Amino acid sequence: MKKIVIAIDGLSACGKSSTAKEVANRLGYKYIDSGAMYRAVTLYFLKHYINPVNPKEVQRAMDSIDISFVFNEKIGFSETYLNGLNVENEIRQMHVSQKVSEISAIGEVRKDLVRQQRKLGKKKGVVMDGRDIGSNVFPDAELKIFMNADMDIRAERRQKELLEKGELVDLPTIEENLKQRDKMDSERKENPLIVPEDAVILSTNFLTLEEQVEYVLQLATEKM
Ligand code: C5P
Repeated sequence: MKKIVIAIDGLSACGKSSTAKEVANRLGYKYIDSGAMYRAVTLYFLKHYINPVNPKEVQRAMDSIDISFVFNEKIGFSETYLNGLNVENEIRQMHVSQKVSEISAIGEVRKDLVRQQRKLGKKKGVVMDGRDIGSNVFPDAELKIFMNADMDIRAERRQKELLEKGELVDLPTIEENLKQRDKMDSERKENPLIVPEDAVILSTNFLTLEEQVEYVLQLATEKM
């Protein structure tokens, strides 16, 4: 069977990562969470007080950032490392979510991360999720999925995820953050969130995770 690239894009918190992770595991593919890369850069910018409108400072910061994914056998998934430190939990916290769309709109940041993402997927056999994977990072991906879900479902899902990591955030705050990120991600100049022409739309309102995974696996098998 030939190895393919599966690009999963969509709105914030509509279940992309859970689906992508599980599809990758079942196919024995690599899973790359491109959002985690933008979140890790944002965390670095916050910690080092990088001025996002100073191009030289941004470039220097990008040159000092090393992002890697390390497989954790205990949980069966990869975790995100920033300059050798495990930041998997910290990058999901609200203070990072509130800043990430601003940082990910910076041209130098996108150029650098897109280059790394293309390198990670060069040998195929990869499932990557994000906002511009099918439209920009891998325009020739064999399978493109665009996921969406209603706001209340997405907000509740995100609240549960945050709670599991020990952060209690009220629903209106989460909804506001999701709305704002959707807007900024869709309206930015470089690589905005769009529905790729050749993508299969997957609405997850009434689907369980298992159903989503089964559906994507079925589409993937047809392309192999
Ligand atoms: O997927 P997640 O919600 O963790 O992504 C966090 C943010 O990273 C998005 O809201 C978006 O601003 C940015 N992002 C991006 N392009 C991608 C993936 C994520 O701009 N391919």
